[in-house]
Amino acid sequence: MGSEKSVRRVKALVAGNWKMNGLKESKREIRRLAKKLDTGGKPKCDVLICPPATLIGLLREEAKGTGIAIGGQDCHAKASGAHTGDIAAAMLRDAGADYVIVGHSERRTDHHETDEMVKAKAEAAWEADLVAIICVGETGDERKAGETLAVVGRQVTGSVPEGAMPKNMIIAYEPVWAIGTGLTPTAEDVAVAHGHIRSLLTERFPETGKAFRILYGGSVKPGNAAELMAVPNVNGALVGGASLTADDFYGIISAAYL
Ligand code: 13P
Repeated sequence: MGSEKSVRRVKALVAGNWKMNGLKESKREIRRLAKKLDTGGKPKCDVLICPPATLIGLLREEAKGTGIAIGGQDCHAKASGAHTGDIAAAMLRDAGADYVIVGHSERRTDHHETDEMVKAKAEAAWEADLVAIICVGETGDERKAGETLAVVGRQVTGSVPEGAMPKNMIIAYEPVWAIGTGLTPTAEDVAVAHGHIRSLLTERFPETGKAFRILYGGSVKPGNAAELMAVPNVNGALVGGASLTADDFYGIISAAYL
């Protein structure tokens, strides 16, 4: 069995990151998406939506029985305490989340999160029985300087905790310059970055490295999703803007290969 074949068998995940968007009325997008998933046949991938924390409980209720999972967008590294405005992983779990995104580039930039902090957050997620989606990706300047693989490698090595397993950790490769810009790397560039991440995972976790999901994120749309998700070692997508409406998000879900 070729290694690519076994990687291909990893079930894809199409995840939506709503970022700081969404009010209670947004539950109708879940309803609309569920209807599309129902009539369009069983999706070939797992489907996840990460709304703002205020909507987790409501959307979880709305998504009951639909197969759509709900996740958070960040958690604190500590289990509880004096951290005004922060949210603990157990609170996300309690509200109905099964996953949490950690280390998104917007958190790394806006809140100065380091690899060490991201790693601690992933461990906190596991303590609360959440799957951690760890984001990595180079900036435009780093890319121009030819540092993409070095930056991404450093982030993966520094942010992924020792106890990572395919069932508790997912990597999302999101080139910062591709987020919200309409720009995407070429399929070849995505293949190189994902291949590098895969080899770091297989070196560090020889038994399980091939089974981790590595998502691509950054301007994924219905029109480019099939091409991006067909790249070797791409096991799904992390979608921002195009996850906000059921039509676009369903278009991306339909493009998942497996
Ligand atoms: P866009 O899909 O809007 O580029 O955002 C990607 C992203 O940051 C998902 O986490």
